[in-house]
Amino acid sequence: RKVVLAYSGGLDTSVIVKWLQETYGCEVVTFTADLGQGEEVEPARAKAQALGVKEIYIEDLRETFVRDYVFPMFRANTVYEGEYLLGTSIARPLIARRLVEIANETGADAIAHGATGKGNDQVRFELGAYALKPGVKVIAPWREWDLTSREKLMAYCEQHEIPVDFAQNKKKSPYSMDANLLHISYEGGVLEDPWTESEEEMWRWSVSPEAAPDQATYLDLSFENGDVVAIDGQSMQAHDILSYLNRVGGENGIGRLDIVENRYVGMKSRGCYETPGGTILLRAHRAIESITLDRESAHLKDELMPRYAELVYNGYWWSPERRMLQAAIDQSQIVVNGVVRLKLYKGNVIVVGRQSEDSLFDASIATFEDDAGAYDQKDAEGFIRLNALRLRIAASRGRSND
Ligand code: ARG
Ligand code: SIN
Repeated sequence: RKVVLAYSGGLDTSVIVKWLQETYGCEVVTFTADLGQGEEVEPARAKAQALGVKEIYIEDLRETFVRDYVFPMFRANTVYEGEYLLGTSIARPLIARRLVEIANETGADAIAHGATGKGNDQVRFELGAYALKPGVKVIAPWREWDLTSREKLMAYCEQHEIPVDFAQNKKKSPYSMDANLLHISYEGGVLEDPWTESEEEMWRWSVSPEAAPDQATYLDLSFENGDVVAIDGQSMQAHDILSYLNRVGGENGIGRLDIVENRYVGMKSRGCYETPGGTILLRAHRAIESITLDRESAHLKDELMPRYAELVYNGYWWSPERRMLQAAIDQSQIVVNGVVRLKLYKGNVIVVGRQSEDSLFDASIATFEDDAGAYDQKDAEGFIRLNALRLRIAASRGRSND
């Protein structure tokens, strides 16, 4: 038996390597991805080697992550429960896909991950894996072992001579965190009380709005088919765009969020999120759509969006219904081209201008001045009377709403 493990190089997944070797007597293949979490991935190689791993995959997936997952999701203006920009959720299908592909390349029949049995991530990894490799075996150590506390985990390390400095690979945080180019998430610790405000030191990418500069920052974002392709006229790759926006957004105190959300497994969970670039993208995308999309397609997109968000949150990226919605969304984006001008100021993203060759905005029709016959105000009378017909009939039958 051979298993491919999603390996971060941290203490927990290092323990999982040993545990898999021992419990299942299997050969472990490790897979570590750079998704823009802002931490070196290369150190995972030496650690995996020290644990006796022979096949070690370390990959830079930043561009595919942003281009093929984050951007398609943003075309739908996706937010879960009105607020969460899905930073963790959208990375899982890519990891699931690589786990399965590596399993196929190395002749492994199983995949493993370090998500707990209480959260969404296990669902996302596993739904993805089953959708892409129906016969795959899934091993989720957190659902099987009895290393339920920090102490037991450390004892296991000592027993099995896992170098404890594996724990020091990141500045030890009191939070359960997940980071990639779209966001950092913080859960657990003092956040488990939804009344307790997070401390300022928790946030890693952004200054507080109070500490942001008194001078606004202007940005021009250029869109092609619904994706940002240039900033201030400068073409960039997708992942460079997002990291640039993370930087200027963070400097201006943009993208902090503190919510209680509903996990797919049924519980409520309090989380803090830092999504500076994503917050800017979302606002800008709506602004370019506001001049390029027909009203009914825009409204239909808005109706579909919560369904789409739920699919991403719940782990159904690789499902027929997500693909179906994606096709509809992508079709709508053919005309979503142009430039949006934004002003970033103390936590706010303010749209100040938009222009497009595909604009449907017609000043000569909308004008408060003389419109030279483009719109006959007399037509409005019949329009309103016909729309009022059923209201008048009901009212004449004595039906009223109060
Ligand atoms: N609650 C968020 C979500 O479900 C964040 C999960 C964070 N995951 C983690 N392994 N720390 O998408
Ligand atoms: C975990 O349980 O591993 C993290 C939280 C989540 O997946 O929702």
